[in-house]
Parts: sequence; structure tokens; C-alpha cells
Amino acid sequence: GKNMNQQPDYVFKIVLIGDSAVGKSQLLARFARDEFSLDSKATIGVEFQTKTMMIDHKTVKAQIWDTAGQERYRAVTSAYYRGAVGAMLVYDITKQQSFEHIARWLEELRSHADKNLVIMLIGNKTDLGSLRAVETDDAKEYAEKENLFFMETSALEATNVETAFLTVLSEIY
Ligand code: GTP
Ligand code: MG
Repeated sequence: GKNMNQQPDYVFKIVLIGDSAVGKSQLLARFARDEFSLDSKATIGVEFQTKTMMIDHKTVKAQIWDTAGQERYRAVTSAYYRGAVGAMLVYDITKQQSFEHIARWLEELRSHADKNLVIMLIGNKTDLGSLRAVETDDAKEYAEKENLFFMETSALEATNVETAFLTVLSEIY
């Protein structure tokens, strides 16, 4: 085994996209630092965090980029996607519109990113089950049609967050 402080064997860039307030930044906070905040502010520009893991006896450093869902705060699109090998396409299961916008995000993603990009569709906020507006089966069907991986998560309850990122990283690797 290798020491985590050494140079990683692989560095993978992953981008987070989706409407404002779907929980992109909190999914990242949960995955990278096991933190969560209910009063998280809208992202302005670009932020990123890294996390190094062992996958198959190799050190894999995930460099995860997070930008604003709000158009006026967004980063320069081409720079954001450049070099990305994975993407998390996030909607909020309690907001139908955030799911309807997924097609647009996917179009932007596919027009800017690498052809072999691994994409995970994520329905976040499963802890708010009583407010659910997007059925799991509808999202699953959409994901199959578009060739995306699919998972429902809760950044608040830490449900499936690590699994979602690890699935993408393992597929890339
Ligand atoms: P932008 O930066 O504007 O694009 O938004 P974002 O997608 O990064 O959303 P953010 O992570 O800032 O979360 C928006 C709000 O939803 C915050 O109040 C979060 O605390 C809340 N939130 C995020 N994930 C969850 C979750 O899994 N469950 C619940 N109940 N709330 C969540
Ligand atoms: Mg954000």
C-alpha cells in the first residue's frame, strides 16, 4: 500500500452541475469533509475540493469542481468542463423543475466535455420524502435512455453520497 501523502497514481477531475439549490455544494461537503450545513450559501464562481482514496491498491485523487447553478454566478463554461472525466448531474427530488432542466444540463455537458465522460444522475434530498415531486422510476427510466448512472442521495443524512462518488471514480478508473 502507498502512503496518502505521496503523489497519487491518478488525478481525476469531476464536475458538479444542476440547478441552484439542488444541493451540489453540500454533496461535495459531505463527500470531501463529512460536513453538512442547512444554511449553505449559493456558490459564486468556482470552488473545488479534493479527496484521495485507495481504489484497487492505487491512490486516486478526486478533484471535484463545484459551480453556481445560477446563470449570473456561473464560471466560464469551457474552462469548467475542460479535462473532466466524470460528472454529477444533480436535481432535487422535491423540485420537478430541477429534474426537467436536467436535459439542458446534459446538453451543455455533452457539448463541452470529453466523449468518454462518466455521468451520474443524482436525485438529492431523499430525507424530504414527504415532499417528493419526482418519482424514482421516472428518473431511472430517463437515466437508462440517456446512458447515465443513477442514484438517489441525501447530503443531509449522508445516504449514498460516498457510493455515488465512488461509483463514478471506479468507472473512470
Ligand atoms: P448553487 O450553489 O446556488 O448552485 O446551489 P447548490 O446546488 O450548491 O445547493 P446547496 O448545496 O448550497 O444547497 C441548497 C440548500 O439545500 C441548502 O439549504 C442545503 O442545506 C440544502 N440541502 C442540500 N442537500 C440537502 C439534502 O440532502 N437534504 C435537505 N433536506 N437539504 C439539503
Ligand atoms: Mg453551490
